[in-house]
Amino acid sequence: MRLDKFLVSTGSYTRSEAGKLCRAGKVSVNADFQKDPSVKIDPEADEICVLGKVVEYRKYTYIMLNKPEGVVSATEDGDKTVIDLLPTELQRIGLFPCGRLDKNTHGLMILTNHGELSHYLLSPKHHVKKKYKVETKFPLSESDRQALERGVDIGGYITAPCTVELVGEREAGITLTEGKYHQIKLMLSAVHNQVTYLQRVSFAEIELDGTLSEGSWRFLTENEVEILTRDFNLLKSKNNKKG
Ligand code: URA
Repeated sequence: MRLDKFLVSTGSYTRSEAGKLCRAGKVSVNADFQKDPSVKIDPEADEICVLGKVVEYRKYTYIMLNKPEGVVSATEDGDKTVIDLLPTELQRIGLFPCGRLDKNTHGLMILTNHGELSHYLLSPKHHVKKKYKVETKFPLSESDRQALERGVDIGGYITAPCTVELVGEREAGITLTEGKYHQIKLMLSAVHNQVTYLQRVSFAEIELDGTLSEGSWRFLTENEVEILTRDFNLLKSKNNKKG
């Protein structure tokens, strides 16, 4: 891996900051200062320091993105994708979105190149929570709320129990533990209503950062990565003990 790419992957530097640090003689590889940001290093074996401090290697990258309307939650498409919103150095490290959001849905999208984790998070077996802010064309009643919570028929499938909080006359917070195609829109049409605005506000207990404007992104913090991977790591260590 290139030295500057390694520094970018830690989440602490942009590509140009990484290049500047190298050229200024502030980066060492195994105790030798390395001014060439394109030099190849082995992130698992080499010790990289910036200003004398060891930089830990992050094997995987985890990103939070605030998806705007009109962008597709895929890696490739004829239209603009969530990957196109990232800087070029992050477009080539195998990131893909954890779950789908419709083109006109806004909000939290987690992207990672940790394939096994994303498989775990998306498996219906694990009931990972996804919370949406929903605005509707017509008022929502208490009986709508109860029906949605119990489960409604969305074309031959009865949705699993979920949590619905009425926030305003035409606004609700809905937390699902499954993710059928167009699920929220189909659930609202099952109670003779229509979604006018849909935003995902949390995924697997990670909340959308209110300071992230639409279309922008940031690396997950260490604490968020710990939350996102906790149950997966627990399951893995349990399986390793068994095996
Ligand atoms: N439900 C929907 O209808 N659309 C989404 O994008 C997500 C959940």
